[in-house]
Amino acid sequence: MADRRIEVVGGKKLEGELKIQGAKNSILPLLSGTVLCRGESVLHNCPNLTDADAACRILNCLGCKCRRENGSIIVNSKELPNTDVPPELMQEMRSSIVFLGAIIGRSRYCKLSFPGGCELGPRPINLHLLALRQMGIKIKDEGGYLDCSAPNGIHGARISLSIPSVGATENIVLAAVTAKGVTEINNAAREPEIVDLADFLNKCGAKIAGAGSGTIIIEGVEKLGGAEHAVIPDRIVAATYLCCAAITRGELMLRNIDCSHLSAVIPVLEQMGCSVYPYKDRIYINAKKTLHPPHKIRTSAHPGFPTDAQPMFMALASTLKGTTVFVETIFSNRYRHVPELARLGARISTDDRVAVVEGVNKLTGAAIKATDLRGGAALVTAALYADGLSKITGIEHIDRGYDDIVGNLSAIGATVKSIEN
Ligand code: EPZ
Repeated sequence: MADRRIEVVGGKKLEGELKIQGAKNSILPLLSGTVLCRGESVLHNCPNLTDADAACRILNCLGCKCRRENGSIIVNSKELPNTDVPPELMQEMRSSIVFLGAIIGRSRYCKLSFPGGCELGPRPINLHLLALRQMGIKIKDEGGYLDCSAPNGIHGARISLSIPSVGATENIVLAAVTAKGVTEINNAAREPEIVDLADFLNKCGAKIAGAGSGTIIIEGVEKLGGAEHAVIPDRIVAATYLCCAAITRGELMLRNIDCSHLSAVIPVLEQMGCSVYPYKDRIYINAKKTLHPPHKIRTSAHPGFPTDAQPMFMALASTLKGTTVFVETIFSNRYRHVPELARLGARISTDDRVAVVEGVNKLTGAAIKATDLRGGAALVTAALYADGLSKITGIEHIDRGYDDIVGNLSAIGATVKSIEN
């Protein structure tokens, strides 16, 4: 990988208008869902993300024909000649595990390796495996491989998740849509991306009710056809740009938004003193005023404050005079951006899941390194405020979830460029 970095000269107020990309965390399960479809599917509003490209490589490896056309991804999955995903493709992206439910739901057999932990700490899949076994799927978990089969077919089950896991909920839904009988998921994840997946699968002929609530009911059907579907907007990318506007004390209009997906984020921005006006598919923020810290941000499963927005809000809180306490309840290792923010002058102390931020009125540009996707977005956010030049490396992490972050920030007044040595 060539030595690529983002260079930002901070201090510019962001002003203007941006269209928000389709949601990375929706595109991935949707692409997996096309495996169930005996036909052609078209997904619109698909941004250029390396994670989406990785998912397309898995589809092509399975024998589906997957291609991009402008902002859409077209998948022809009439045939599914292969059911094994090689390790090198599984290693590219942790959330590839969500292909398990779809492949086994389509072909009753699947073999894939499962990578260990990632930047955010261990990423267990015990809830996925426990639920799929309840549905009659035999899973041999040895040597880092999952060898799965359903010789007697997949049957519905009543499943209660001990944690409202997004990935586990998606895998269960994908395996249940063509199972014999009814599957009920209790304590299901309620994220908007779950609703988007259910909407798409129902267009394909599935019978899924209750998505978005804690209880999802799936009535198994014989098979699914293809469908056309527009991916929902990316609420975390929207939250990122709202933080960028707030940290530079600017003003911004975001289009292609579902404001209901930001119901936990908007009140925090208002608590800080920002004026925020959600209206239909757009949101306007004005931060041209003195802002103050929100004092406490505790992440929790949707509809609580999203863990994925925690790093960017921490960058913002670092510039607000006063104290903000963060409690990260979802992932055990989601403060890796803290030492990098400290290199800019942020004053943050952490203890396990708690981080205490003492806001400062000055950050100074420095050489900093992204270690994960949202941590990288937090570094860009902070660099927009810092005096002078910041050089951010590790931007391959950012490319996983942000389509052209440099182009978007330049378009609203930031002094930012992408450098490739
Ligand atoms: C999804 O990850 C998202 N990724 C994450 O976004 C997001 O942070 C997370 O949901 C929570 O909202 C995608 O959708 C591709 P979980 P996922 O299963 O499904 C524990 C980003 O930045 N758990 O809801 O992996 C787990 O360890 C990414 O876009 C088990 O213990 O998250 C974690 O503590 C980062 N056993 C908690 O549940 C299991 O079998 C929530 O994980 C599964 C999960």
